[in-house]
Amino acid sequence: MKLTKPEKIPLTDLKLGKEEVAAVAAVLRSGWLSMGPKTAEFEQRLQEFLGVKHAFAVANGTAALHLACESLGLKEGDEVLCPALTFVATANAILYTGARPVFIDINGPHDLNLSVADAAAKVTERTRAIMVLHYGGYPCDLDGVRALAAKYNLKIIEDCAHAPGAVYPSPDGPQMVGTIGDVGCFSFFANKNMTTGEGGMVVTGDAGLAEKIRIRRSHGMTTLTWDRHKGHSFSYDVVARGYNYRLDEMRAALGLMQLQKLKERNNQRRRLTSAYHERLRDLPQLELPFLQAPTGSAYHLLPILLKGRIKRPEFMASLAKQGIQSSVHYPPIHCFSHYRQMWPPLFQHNLPITEEVASRVVSLPLYPAMSMAQLTHVVKAIGAFLASRSRV
Ligand SMILES: Cc1ncc(COP(=O)(O)O)c(C=O)c1O
Repeated sequence: MKLTKPEKIPLTDLKLGKEEVAAVAAVLRSGWLSMGPKTAEFEQRLQEFLGVKHAFAVANGTAALHLACESLGLKEGDEVLCPALTFVATANAILYTGARPVFIDINGPHDLNLSVADAAAKVTERTRAIMVLHYGGYPCDLDGVRALAAKYNLKIIEDCAHAPGAVYPSPDGPQMVGTIGDVGCFSFFANKNMTTGEGGMVVTGDAGLAEKIRIRRSHGMTTLTWDRHKGHSFSYDVVARGYNYRLDEMRAALGLMQLQKLKERNNQRRRLTSAYHERLRDLPQLELPFLQAPTGSAYHLLPILLKGRIKRPEFMASLAKQGIQSSVHYPPIHCFSHYRQMWPPLFQHNLPITEEVASRVVSLPLYPAMSMAQLTHVVKAIGAFLASRSRV
């Protein structure tokens, strides 16, 4: 009998529509490709969507985080609290300023976000800021973070790479993630909930900070090429050490289309997450983080934790055999060679929960275009593997 080749189910899959292709093509025909009117419109729409006063489109999410750190005045000798269970860009952005990341543990297998209690225990007289991640799109304890920041006079940077459109259920009413700290930073990398290929956005409600971000995004210059093209200005000054972190018009046009679709796509991610949770929650060899989380997540990732004697490489290989891609979010940052060299060999970061959870976390496929049939295929493959393990 001929076996059917297993269907390929990627971790994430991007489906762009005709309207996105048309929007980018229109920019190409317009003759103006670098930062200009489309970028300004993209910033305006994101401001309205989030309900925030200032938004600056940038080249990528890492640039957004770097601009946030630098505009807040972080420098050598400063310490910044941040999770270790995040993408390395979170901590790299802190390093660019000369400041040092101080890694904070997570809450537990049920909640992979940063523990405010551990953050409080690691505050020193050098701590200047806390950079939080909303892991997988699930808002972290922002009220706890705000209380900590108020107590120790810390700035709050929200790394919202996973969380565009996520809503934090604050006691004062729902608030958009990214607008609660001093600065919010978004990534529009190709695997994110909304994408421009490469791209990002920095948002803030603080006018002084906004001006610093605006200036630093484009070489520290007081005017843009677009301003000069339009005859708004003929010259410029350079008033700070700046960067070329600009976004281009093609990406801005794509971002505008993606923003229009974000709510519906996040809803679709929520439906898929509920279906996964419903069908995996009773398997005794699994733990499901964020099972009890409130519904404001952006549902970027679908993490599961393997329990008992289930070995992760075997588990992932068995899914791969069925054509299913899985991944690990994340190898903790303090374990990377470059980061290990920054501290003396016996230094204890004291991250027991992060290390334990990171050793058994697996991300399953999750993307808006995923069908229920594909989800069923993933769930069945997991069930079959776990059943085979329980017999050995
Ligand atoms: C948590 C987190 N922070 C920061 C980044 C950096 O974003 P970018 O790749 O757009 O620089 C990413 C994504 O790649 C991320 O997942």
